[in-house]
Amino acid sequence: MKRILITGALGQLGSEIAVALRKRYGNTNVVLTDIRDDINSDLKESGPFYSIDCRNGEKLAEIVRNHDVDTIYHLAALLSAVSELNPQKAWDINMNGLLTALEVARSEHCALFTPSSIGAFGPTTPRDYTPQDTIQRPTSMYGVTKVAGELLCDYYHHKYDVDSRGVRYPGIISNLTQPGGGTTDYAVEIYYAAVEKGSYECPLSDNTYLDMMYMPDAVNAAIGLMEADPAALRHRNAFNVGAMSFCPEEQAAYIRKHIPDFSITYRVDPVKQAIADSWPNILEDYAARVEWGWKPQYTLETMTEDMLNTLQRRLKLSTI
Ligand code: SER
Repeated sequence: MKRILITGALGQLGSEIAVALRKRYGNTNVVLTDIRDDINSDLKESGPFYSIDCRNGEKLAEIVRNHDVDTIYHLAALLSAVSELNPQKAWDINMNGLLTALEVARSEHCALFTPSSIGAFGPTTPRDYTPQDTIQRPTSMYGVTKVAGELLCDYYHHKYDVDSRGVRYPGIISNLTQPGGGTTDYAVEIYYAAVEKGSYECPLSDNTYLDMMYMPDAVNAAIGLMEADPAALRHRNAFNVGAMSFCPEEQAAYIRKHIPDFSITYRVDPVKQAIADSWPNILEDYAARVEWGWKPQYTLETMTEDMLNTLQRRLKLSTI
């Protein structure tokens, strides 16, 4: 029986992984933690929840012991654009948070999942069909913490036998909890704006291609990797996982299939554009497919339909 602890459980990824894991393993077997306590979420009522800073190792270890946790999903981190505005804070939260989680995993004998990102690549990385093992010289602080994090997780595996695993997520698109401070946030905001206003001002240029993934696939990637047979894993930290690659103009075109009058304008945010320009256009994810059976379900077309239907329903607007 798995007993899981999640850090950053009220964030974009955490809030949906938490729901999926509680459904799978039972509410009381999935312990949630987040630094924020001011968010209204059913998750805080449906099972154990603690408001703690993920850098508080003593408290984290105590919760792990009290709940007999065997697997940690360490999701607490600052995203790329916000990290670039405060690089020292990003280093502190992303690196010390991860080091703390790894130390708890080591002392309490837990497996550990933590996400890396397309941000772990940089301008000298091959941009198209970026290989699993390639140049990783990111130019953003977020990317620096992601590469260092991948290495640290592998180190804890080799040195201390911690069962650490991770994926390099693309931009994640979801409709339960909005992301905050990421370069790829636009690809979520655009759907809300389409439903609420029929127009969107995009912070990235029209032909900026980036990897993206719909949340149900992102949740399956994390759980699928953590349930994979360790003997089959040649890589660990972290696997490329791809689902779709598009630019804002293409996403707008798919939205127009449902909302014909939808319009998009561009006001480029230089911080986000510089980060996006340093990231790959599209990843190659053969290792994940072969080593643990990764297979995404959603395309830009099916995701767009589902996002718009869900937001229309949620925002109680007329059907599209
Ligand atoms: N979605 C993330 C960001 O934009 C990338 O991993 O920061």
